[in-house]
Amino acid sequence: ILMVSSEVAPFAKTGGLADVLGSLPQALRELGCEVRVAMPLYRCVREAEMAATCLLADMPVPLGSRLITADVWQSSDRGQVLVYFVRRDEFFDRSQLYGSEKGDYFDNGERFIFFCRTVPLLCRQLNFKPDIIHCHDWQTALVPAYLDLLYRRESFWRGTKSVFTIHNIGYQGIFAADLFTLTGLPKSFFSVAGMEFWGGVNFMKAGIVCADAITTVSPRYSEEICTSEYGNGLDGLLRQYKDKLHGILNGVDYREWNPETDPYIAAPYSVEDLSGKLICKEDLLDAFQLPPSLKHRPLLGMVSRLAEQKGFDLLTDIIDNLMEQDLGMVLLGSGELKYERFFSELAQRYPEKIGVRFGYDNRLAHKIEAGADMFLMPSRYEPCGLNQIYSLRYGTVPIVRATGGLYDTVEPYDPRQNSGVGFTFEKYEPEALLGAVLQALRCYARPEVWKQIMKNAMKMDFSWGTSAQKYLELYQQLLQR
Ligand code: ADP
Ligand code: GLC
Repeated sequence: ILMVSSEVAPFAKTGGLADVLGSLPQALRELGCEVRVAMPLYRCVREAEMAATCLLADMPVPLGSRLITADVWQSSDRGQVLVYFVRRDEFFDRSQLYGSEKGDYFDNGERFIFFCRTVPLLCRQLNFKPDIIHCHDWQTALVPAYLDLLYRRESFWRGTKSVFTIHNIGYQGIFAADLFTLTGLPKSFFSVAGMEFWGGVNFMKAGIVCADAITTVSPRYSEEICTSEYGNGLDGLLRQYKDKLHGILNGVDYREWNPETDPYIAAPYSVEDLSGKLICKEDLLDAFQLPPSLKHRPLLGMVSRLAEQKGFDLLTDIIDNLMEQDLGMVLLGSGELKYERFFSELAQRYPEKIGVRFGYDNRLAHKIEAGADMFLMPSRYEPCGLNQIYSLRYGTVPIVRATGGLYDTVEPYDPRQNSGVGFTFEKYEPEALLGAVLQALRCYARPEVWKQIMKNAMKMDFSWGTSAQKYLELYQQLLQR
């Protein structure tokens, strides 16, 4: 199996995509598959100074009418999944993966056409013939198109099937029509049945049309994206290809996210002995320079990309009502400037209640998961969401909008049965979010009830085993066709 992605943890990460690529290959390996991964060689990969060797130098790659070159490096970490890094510094030696605060890099289309074009070529060069090429998100969506439209007849590729996973339909890779000539795909593919989209090109559309199977990262989201509310203009196409669309819930890596063994948190704790969690809370308050008196008040946590997807508009609407409550709140985020400004200003207004930190900080993300009492994810949409799953394991009770993977993973608390693991709301409306938070606060005020919810949450198991098995079954079905 060759996994192709623009992000793979620990090498390069902006969101959950990297977490998935950091753990799914290993889980498949544990089921007996041979798995390799291909990704770009970004500056951050080079700076991490991991062990790698150059396998192919100056491999020719067509890009439009030009013939340029790529180098291919290979990780040489024994025991780990083998990773191929595609190197061309002109495209990938930059400070960020996709763009700066000012916006996306102007040549993202060209950068990822180049990456996609290189992947099948490097397989050929290395005589590595995968049974499955599994591509993730728009940055890799042209690979299934190359296999289907350029290479299908070559005997080398005859047995290979492609899988395309949609991690987020909000990012489709849409560019002006003139980019099409750079792809080198047959002219006929610039059409309604191909990758043409409202006069431009759409990478994700190419993946949907050409892949042998399409998956997305939760069963609920696989239904949602077939509706006009969630499909971002691709719902019609997805309904057309519904037979090859599957929803497979992400797993998480409990070796990395487990309060019993987490090296980043102040004290370990477990479902049997929760005492360490209070120490983690004190440590978290300290990290945000919030008053220690908040220790006995409910503490809300957020770790998120600052993007509209994550429901910040709802939160900004209710924030003053929230601040009237006797609680604290911490936020770690990076992304859109308007949200950064909003939260900076808020922290100045309520310095005794709110702590904010901007940028990317994995250690602090772990501290928040451990030290907060509740975790807020009021997403407008959420393909899967990993943070709420991490929160469950840390007994940090999630408050989420019941959409996508949040719907599939957070069973609402039911006072009659004392069952459930969190608090949910349905309508994308500020009052609905506020209602869910107030409900959580009422339960928090009753320690025995709260402890029960925490314990229910901590006992949930979303390890990769089950999900990896589902991918394996899908691969096998494709290969038997
Ligand atoms: P998405 O991929 O949409 O951003 P997920 O919940 O699937 O959402 O995954 C987010 C991942 O990124 C989690 O591992 C989370 O801890 C991490 N993350 C998000 N923002 C930050 C940040 N500012 N600092 C550290 N980690 C972050
Ligand atoms: C995307 C989605 C998120 C999902 C992640 C990994 O970034 O926004 O919901 O968990 O991909 O699949």
